[in-house]
Amino acid sequence: MPCLSRKTGLVISLGTWASFVINRSNPVTVDSHNEIEKSLPFLIRIFPGRNKNEVMGRITAIANQKGGVGKTTTAVNLGASLAAAERSVLVIDMDPQGNASSGLGYPRGEVDDGVYQALTGEMTLQETVMSTELERLHIVPATEDLAGAGIELVDVENREYRLRKALDDIKNKYDHILIDCPPSLGLLTVNSLVAAHTVMVPLQCEYYAMEGLGRLMNTIERIRASFNPDLSLEGILLCMYDPRMNLTKQVADEVRQHFASTVFDTVIPRNVRLGESPSFGKPVILYDINSKGSRSYLELAKEYLERLSLSSDRSKKER
Ligand SMILES: Nc1ncnc2c1ncn2[C@@H]1O[C@H](COP(=O)(O)OP(=O)(O)OP(=O)(O)O)[C@@H](O)[C@H]1O
Ligand SMILES: [Mg+2]
Repeated sequence: MPCLSRKTGLVISLGTWASFVINRSNPVTVDSHNEIEKSLPFLIRIFPGRNKNEVMGRITAIANQKGGVGKTTTAVNLGASLAAAERSVLVIDMDPQGNASSGLGYPRGEVDDGVYQALTGEMTLQETVMSTELERLHIVPATEDLAGAGIELVDVENREYRLRKALDDIKNKYDHILIDCPPSLGLLTVNSLVAAHTVMVPLQCEYYAMEGLGRLMNTIERIRASFNPDLSLEGILLCMYDPRMNLTKQVADEVRQHFASTVFDTVIPRNVRLGESPSFGKPVILYDINSKGSRSYLELAKEYLERLSLSSDRSKKER
């Protein structure tokens, strides 16, 4: 029988092939897949089972120097959706604004230690990890002092490698590590890209969406050449998609023409629930599981895991 967590309201043990997210306030015990389909009107998606080649400690930086495009919303909600798919996830908040931290229950000023302490070497990264409402989702928060880190680290030896080094001891404890980058290409973003295996780029479907993308791609290229040759592009994610607007469709078409299969099939719609959930310190799946926002991020988690499984199969064949 699947086990039911009353704390999180998630059914979390249906074998390795599937996980389902269910209503938190009204948990039900179910004893078969058919039962779930019958009893849960909000059945969301079947996630791919864990691929035996699925590696631990995959690090993805969520980056775009353009502000307000959906980086933090993606870090928090992709993280929560992967946790619902039975993967252990660590979100690292590298943005001094601290929005990922507050979105996961740690508002500004309420935590003393975070990624700053790990970057400066005062603490290990492990010592700064905080739990969240979801058992498998953890966060390293941003504290106010992170705002000074960009300047303080300038004269420090190996300044670009501080996060990568801090992650060494901890990365294999998680399946996925998502880094929420600030809206700049400064030292905090550079540290994130040097530490990461891949970069996910959220784009807002609006007129200037592609503006600045060239600079971001050049930065990724420079990081590859100088610090992290294995860094690759995870994909481009179309956010705040509004199918009623012609402009949204035009922008989406143009981005797909330009970047082809690098663009995720999943699009994140503009959805009020996604905008509201951070003020409750919750990812959207714990705020309104039936919302389009919840479904789209669960869908994204599924696509993310499927792509990962394809690429690990491919690299196994190539070996
Ligand atoms: N799909 C969406 N539908 C509705 N609102 C959204 C959606 N995605 C993000 N938002 C809201 O838009 C604002 C900007 O989103 P978010 O904070 O994720 O962007 P960001 O790229 O991290 O911004 P910054 O560059 O400032 O860090 C937030 O108020 C967020 O709640
Ligand atoms: Mg942000």
